[in-house]
Amino acid sequence: MFITATAPAKVILFGEHAVVYGKPAIAVPVSGIRASASLDTHVPDGHGLRIIAPDLEPARDVDDALSLTARLVFDALGTPLPDANVVVQSQIPIASGLGSGAAVSTALARVLSAAVDCPLDLATLNALIYEVEKVHHGTPSGIDNTVIVYERPVYFVRECPIEHIAIGMPFTLVIADTGQRAPTRESVGDVRKLLETQPEQTQPILDSIAEIAEAARFAIETGNAVELGHLMSSNHQLLQKLTVSSTELDTLIKAAESAGALGAKLSGGGRGGNMVALVTPESAKTIAQALMDAGAYRVISTLVS
Ligand code: PMV
Repeated sequence: MFITATAPAKVILFGEHAVVYGKPAIAVPVSGIRASASLDTHVPDGHGLRIIAPDLEPARDVDDALSLTARLVFDALGTPLPDANVVVQSQIPIASGLGSGAAVSTALARVLSAAVDCPLDLATLNALIYEVEKVHHGTPSGIDNTVIVYERPVYFVRECPIEHIAIGMPFTLVIADTGQRAPTRESVGDVRKLLETQPEQTQPILDSIAEIAEAARFAIETGNAVELGHLMSSNHQLLQKLTVSSTELDTLIKAAESAGALGAKLSGGGRGGNMVALVTPESAKTIAQALMDAGAYRVISTLVS
C-alpha cells in the first residue's frame, strides 16, 4: 500500500496575538502551498513505523512533534502502529507564520489514520493537532490547527465553537516572506510580558484589535474590499505597538501600500516571517514585483473564495 495525505498552509488576516487572550481572529487556508505525508507499507515484518522528514531541518521539536502526532493518532484509534515508512515533506517555510508545523502534523495524522483504515473526523483531528501545536508554541490559541484541519476561512475565538466565514466576494492576497525566521513562542512570550508589565497601555491595544477583527468579518461577508484593506493596515499599526513587527516587515508593508495594495499587515507571530497584502486581481503582479524589489525572499498570491 502506498498512500499520501496533505494539508494546506494558512495565513492569519486579523487578530494574531490578541487571539491568545480570548479575542477573535480571522484566518484563511492557503491551499496552493502544502505539506504532504506519503506512507509505504512495502517493508519487512517487524520493521516498525519510521517517519522520515528529509526537507525539514533536523530539530528536536520537529522530531518531538512528529512522534507525538503518531502516538496520539494510534492512542485515539486504539490500533497498533503499522509497519511502514512515512516520508513527510513541506512546501511551507518553517517558522514564518504560515502554519508549517500544524500542516505537517495534519498531513502525517491523516496518512497514518488512513493507513489503518480509520480516517479521523475533523473535530478529533483538530483536537489532536492542537496538542501537537503545544510542542511548537507552548501556549497556542488553536487558530492554526483549526484553519488548517478544516481548510476553510475561520472566525476563531479560543474555546468557542468554530465559526466558518462566508466570503461575500472572492479576494486576492499577496503574501511576502521577509526570509527572517521568527519563533512564535518568543513573540508571544514578549507580548505576555508587555501585558503583565504595562497592562494600561497593552490591554486597549488588544481590545482595538478585537474591534478590528469584528469589523473585518463584516467586510469579508459583505465583500467590502476597500474597508477590509483599511482594517488590515490599522491592525498592523496595533501590532507595531505590541512590538511584534520588524524593520523588514515594515519595509515590505510600505512597499505593498505604495504599489497600490488596499491594505497590508504582518501575519502570524511577527518579528519576521510573512506579511500579507490585500490586492485587486489586476494589481497583484505589480505589487508582487514591488515586494520582490523591496527585498522579499519569496512572494505568493492566493485567491480566497
Ligand atoms: O506564527 P504563527 O503563524 O504560528 O501564528 C501565531 C499566531 C499567534 O496569535 C501569535 C499565536 C497563537 O497561538 O494564536
